[in-house]
Amino acid sequence: MQLSVASVLLSTLLAARTAYGATYSLSDNITPSTFYNNFAFQAISDPTHGRVNYVNQATAQSEGIITLGSTIKLSADVSGTIPASGPGRDSFRVQSKKQYTTHVAVFNVDHMPHGCGTWPAIWELGDNWPNQGEVDIVEGVNDVPPNRMTLHTSSGCTMPASRTESGTPTQNDCNVAVNNNAGCGVLENDPNSYGPNFNSNGGGWWAIERTSTFIKIWFWTRDDVNTPSDVKNGAGSVNTDNWGRPDAYFPNTSCNFASHFGPHNIIINLTFCGDWAGSSSVWASSGCPGTCVDYVNNRPADLKNAYFEFPWIKVYQ
Ligand SMILES: *[C@@H]1O[C@H](CO)[C@@H](O)[C@H](O)[C@H]1NC(C)=O
Ligand SMILES: *[C@@H]1O[C@H](CO)[C@@H](O)[C@H](O)[C@H]1NC(C)=O
Repeated sequence: MQLSVASVLLSTLLAARTAYGATYSLSDNITPSTFYNNFAFQAISDPTHGRVNYVNQATAQSEGIITLGSTIKLSADVSGTIPASGPGRDSFRVQSKKQYTTHVAVFNVDHMPHGCGTWPAIWELGDNWPNQGEVDIVEGVNDVPPNRMTLHTSSGCTMPASRTESGTPTQNDCNVAVNNNAGCGVLENDPNSYGPNFNSNGGGWWAIERTSTFIKIWFWTRDDVNTPSDVKNGAGSVNTDNWGRPDAYFPNTSCNFASHFGPHNIIINLTFCGDWAGSSSVWASSGCPGTCVDYVNNRPADLKNAYFEFPWIKVYQ
């Protein structure tokens, strides 16, 4: 008798435990002292034709493109003008050494790159683009808020027009072959989610949760009283059930995740100009003077804010 009561209790407890499917444990704690264990520089060319020269780790260290002190600081080299004949301004593209499928990542950001010509991104990417998918968590150009969160996939992945998120969808076909690869984007509603506003407000936190059935992205400004304590404190485990409505919600309703998303690396990069930031219409509507390439070549003092600063990044699985 006692035994069967105990076993009923035990199975009830186990059922309750598995219901906590949204609890994840810290797997990678990325701080200034662990950065090189977790991320590598990639000196590759920019497929979006940026006015940029991504450098390797040795160059990044010697030019001060990376500084590891109380934060992980990643910046462009803005020490002088650059020749019109060269590939562009020295900058960074760093990629996580590990790949992730089901996971949560929290990015604690004190400062993001801003200024005319800048096109920064925090994103996740699979092999063999676009077949394994791409998730842009933070992206924008030329100081213009808000932040934009986007999926880019192969054909046959769309998002329902109406879904539970606080951001505003732009369009809902994630296929890179339509709408000039705009992807299925969602704009944050908070003007402090990007650029100078973000920085003057002290930054904030972004988080992504990816499962086999959805991708969610949240943003909290530094002063948001609703920031979950596990996010704010960089806790050893996080429970996304307590995080409330996401800013962007991408469900698998009309998108087979198994065939559109593979294992992803986390990438943080800063390019200049190129297909988006440098397009003449975007440049002009951003209120930026002259041409993007000329600006980036010749106005290093105006690029002094072209850097990211992270106290930490944490990945949970
Ligand atoms: C760097 O970031 C931009 C913005 O997301 C992206 O379009 C570009 O392709 C990236 N460059 C590389 C080499 O990853
Ligand atoms: C979404 O995920 C559920 C649960 O795994 C699955 O049953 C369903 O077929 C998926 N939908 C699509 C379109 O792949």
